[in-house]
Amino acid sequence: MLDFPSKWPLEHRIEVGSTNDIVKKWIQNDCKHGQALYVDRQTKGRGRLGRSWFSDDESLYFSIAIRDFQPNHLSFFPLAAAVAMAKMLLKQANIHIGLKWPNDLFYQKKKLGGILCEAVVNGSQIKGIVIGIGININTDLKNTPKELKNIITSTLEITKKRLNIAHIAKAVRQEILQTCELLFQNGPAEIIYFCQKNDITKGRKVRLQNGQKGRVLGILADGSLEVKTQSEVLRVRSGEVHFLKNF
Ligand code: BTN
Repeated sequence: MLDFPSKWPLEHRIEVGSTNDIVKKWIQNDCKHGQALYVDRQTKGRGRLGRSWFSDDESLYFSIAIRDFQPNHLSFFPLAAAVAMAKMLLKQANIHIGLKWPNDLFYQKKKLGGILCEAVVNGSQIKGIVIGIGININTDLKNTPKELKNIITSTLEITKKRLNIAHIAKAVRQEILQTCELLFQNGPAEIIYFCQKNDITKGRKVRLQNGQKGRVLGILADGSLEVKTQSEVLRVRSGEVHFLKNF
């Protein structure tokens, strides 16, 4: 069956496997830039690096199709999405978050949300990008699996107020589109500056995905992370970093 978005730019469904998988199909079928989907629950929600993403009926599971962009903007979408979510959370919930490179959303020392960007290609042509966003909204931590309790938080835990998820989904779509427009019109400089100002990795001791350890010097103008090991200064372009002690 052809899965195509409704005529509305933001569609809601009760349950899907993964919103990213649905929006990838939309892009393959040439949907419009900005077509978005949010759901009450995912049965196969995916995180970065092949991890699964916990789903209750109380949070935001959202994906949006990004199309018609210059290839040199491709690597900036994860950072742009993180910037958009920081702005959205400040406006909608008065929460100031920290960004853990490249695109984890942290409140103090706990993860509030994550972003999974995936490219949709046809041969050598990039048809679009799916930006998938999960933010813990009305999640009561008492009801989360034991292994997550001490490492995640939710807007409810932080503010003690419930948010309307439909309203948040609209705000998320709007903020993502505005931040993409900023990237398309002005280039990445403002996005990078915002990330540098709100970066929680700078100065931290980290382990890289390849096992190397070092101290983060900061985010560079091309969006990569500069890390000083004992023997060299590295530019990390993708993957993620794991904090070593004192975090
Ligand atoms: C991460 O931090 O590992 C990224 C998590 C991304 C989760 C979101 S929820 C909506 C969208 N659909 C998915 O299957 N994953 C993303």
